[in-house]
Amino acid sequence: MTFLGSELPLIQAPMAGSQGSPLAIAVSNAGGLGSLPCGMLTIEAMRKELTALRAGTQRPYNVNFFCHVPPAPDADREAAWRRALDPYYRELGVEPAGAAPARMPFSREAADLLEEFRPPVVSFHFGLPAPDLLARVKRTGAKVLSSATTVDEARWLQAHGADAVIAQGAEAGGHRGMFLSTDISTQVGTFALLPQVVRAVKVPVIAAGGVADASGAAAALALGAAAVQVGTAFLLCPEAATSAVHRAALKSQSARETALTNLFSGGPARGIVNRLMRELGPMSPLAPAYPLATAAVAPLRAAAEKRGSGDFSPLWSGQNATGCREVPAARIVEALAEGL
Ligand SMILES: Cc1cc2nc3c(=O)[nH]c(=O)nc-3n(C[C@H](O)[C@H](O)[C@H](O)COP(=O)(O)O)c2cc1C
Repeated sequence: MTFLGSELPLIQAPMAGSQGSPLAIAVSNAGGLGSLPCGMLTIEAMRKELTALRAGTQRPYNVNFFCHVPPAPDADREAAWRRALDPYYRELGVEPAGAAPARMPFSREAADLLEEFRPPVVSFHFGLPAPDLLARVKRTGAKVLSSATTVDEARWLQAHGADAVIAQGAEAGGHRGMFLSTDISTQVGTFALLPQVVRAVKVPVIAAGGVADASGAAAALALGAAAVQVGTAFLLCPEAATSAVHRAALKSQSARETALTNLFSGGPARGIVNRLMRELGPMSPLAPAYPLATAAVAPLRAAAEKRGSGDFSPLWSGQNATGCREVPAARIVEALAEGL
């Protein structure tokens, strides 16, 4: 048994928007630590998913939340952003107004749910919640994890109560967990970040970013990781909720080309390069702050996806999508376990 309570030192990365309880259940039942991403769920949806998760597995699992500080809306920036997207609204014949699935930070209501369901592990992205909320999570007995993208962030997380730190290398798919710095040019790759974080903190370190097979997992352990967190490799599993356009991109040659982009949410995240990223440039100063950029892109995404196109969709992927296979998640767990 590992420090996470799971049989294997393997966390299935929480992937908001691309999976729910079915993937978490499959991974936990296979001996890994399945994760339920709650960052884009309402409280009612969280309750439903937690109920399903608890019914689906007797094994430990992880529940994941965002803890960004919501920015004040900036009307000028929003208008400039919509102007930049205007040619696409006209091309696709859609109205700019659109509601996007909200990305909510961890809240008192979410803490109520954790007190009720008592998951053994709780992980955060973008730092940690306010001290009173964090204290409530810790009082449930949950082990608290959070992502660090730099040595400074790892030290900060340890000092503020994280029981383990996820060293998220620049290769990782999805959003960077950055919370002390906004400079993507100084983000560090897994191979360089991991041993430095291991030296800098006393708590266990989990390696995330680019781990796609048994040898990658073994390399992470050799560099001092106590466990690995793997996301991208699970995206083609039947238990994942990955959209059709996202699956098609992951299976194509385009998966070899990923970049950090802020176009889809306002925050830097790694995804497969698509038309919007190519034409506006993957990082745009016009995109409103995280998570406000999402709303204006949402109608373009919906219209394009209806036509089978991922031109306006976030196609989150790490730099190494070679671990993606259309097989049950338990097979991916088994394959990774050979290196653990
Ligand atoms: C589709 C996708 C969605 C993600 N969503 C989340 C999330 O909701 N919460 C989180 O903590 N990390 C999220 N991440 C980042 C992962 O936790 C992790 O850092 C990353 O998947 C590891 O790199 P890999 O994709 O190369 O395995 C996401 C990653 C992907 C690929």
